[in-house]
Amino acid sequence: MNLHNASMMITGASRGLGLSLAQTLAKRGAKVVLVARGLEVYSHAESLVRQGHQAFALQADLRDAHAIHPVIAQANALVGPLDGVIHNAATLGVSPLRTLVDTPCESLSDALALHVLAPFRINKIVGAAMALRGEGALVHITTDAAVEAYAQWGAYGISKAAMDHLMRSFAAELGPHGVRSFSVDPGEMNTALHHEALPDVDPNTLQNPSWAADRIADLLEHSERAPSGARVVLGAEVAS
Ligand SMILES: NC(=O)c1ccc[n+]([C@@H]2O[C@H](COP(=O)([O-])OP(=O)(O)OC[C@H]3O[C@@H](n4cnc5c(N)ncnc54)[C@H](OP(=O)(O)O)[C@@H]3O)[C@@H](O)[C@H]2O)c1
Repeated sequence: MNLHNASMMITGASRGLGLSLAQTLAKRGAKVVLVARGLEVYSHAESLVRQGHQAFALQADLRDAHAIHPVIAQANALVGPLDGVIHNAATLGVSPLRTLVDTPCESLSDALALHVLAPFRINKIVGAAMALRGEGALVHITTDAAVEAYAQWGAYGISKAAMDHLMRSFAAELGPHGVRSFSVDPGEMNTALHHEALPDVDPNTLQNPSWAADRIADLLEHSERAPSGARVVLGAEVAS
């Protein structure tokens, strides 16, 4: 994918990896739409525009089914048909982390709504349009907790594992139509989510999210490094 003038929507772009992705993609020439619940998306987009980039912001809670169509319609109106979507928005589900026995059903439901149902709803609409055009990329930001069952990470890990399978199912169906659906595990990063989960970890030992954002932009630009259906682990440079 040529990122120059590509229309890209990034969910969870008010901070952390999502914000770094928006900044990185904008600097590579893409038209970016930042989506999150927080109003900060507007000032982040404004700051990118002031630097000469093409950036827009939309405020939405993606757990809300009724938010999805308006977000996509507005994104299309702002930047044209989407060439790529990065499903990055995330929640731990339950905080502080706790065992499944102590996890309220609503917390798992919340994590599933954000990590599975929102990407499902968005991919149904955007992926279908991409398939008609014969190109596009659906990127799902995953985690090692989707593969390894860590104690107390249940709501997060279960929902991210389901997201990975959603990614593979879309890859099986839309891959033959030119749409790349893949997952990326960015590894441990110095972000609010990491601090919320593991407050005792020294942030200086963690990767800056801008490093992962750069690698993900590379994957978008080089389809052979992340073919449809791949689950890429950054750092390990493994696509499985
Ligand atoms: N940090 C790590 O070490 C690590 C490791 C492996 C994988 N990951 C993955 O990397 C991605 C980025 O994580 P991060 O560490 O950058 O997290 P973060 O700093 O907590 O950012 C999460 C983003 O998601 C948005 N968000 C949360 N709930 C939302 C909702 N209901 N609707 C719309 N947006 C919502 C947040 O914005 P608002 O609160 O403003 O809505 C925020 O912009 C996630 O998919 C995460 O699972 C992170």
